Amino acid sequence: MKLTQIIFIALVLSCTANAADVAAGKAAYEKSCKKCHGGDGTPNPTIAKMMKVEMKALSSKEVQGKSDAVLKKETLEGVGKMKAIAISDAEAANIVAFLRTLKS
Ligand code: HEC
Repeated sequence: MKLTQIIFIALVLSCTANAADVAAGKAAYEKSCKKCHGGDGTPNPTIAKMMKVEMKALSSKEVQGKSDAVLKKETLEGVGKMKAIAISDAEAANIVAFLRTLKS
């Protein structure tokens, strides 16, 4: 194998290792968020009523307008009436990558 090929493979590998993983984010979202936020980010009306709060769709302009850092922080620490969700930092980053795919 040529050195340039080795460098190319190393670069590809390091990129996939660092990139947030949308598929893993979707799985984590379905486990930890879907019951309240719906499969596509549409709020579960029963939950919103129960928690007495108007929930925005995660696909909406307002939510998508937030930075990755803010979305990650809100996921990890909670926001308003939403409590903190016990997931790892890496999982939260993957979930944020998945949330970006919901953008309407
Ligand atoms: C027990 C129900 C519940 C679960 C589980 C839940 N949330 Fe929430 N989430 C809420 C509610 C209710 C709000 C609205 C809070 C408010 O406005 O006071 C909210 C708000 C948010 C917001 C801010 C939206 C906005 O209005 O800007 C984000 C982002 C969010 N949730 C992401 C997540 C993610 C990601 C997960 C999973 C890791 C998750 N939530 C799990 C109930 C939940």
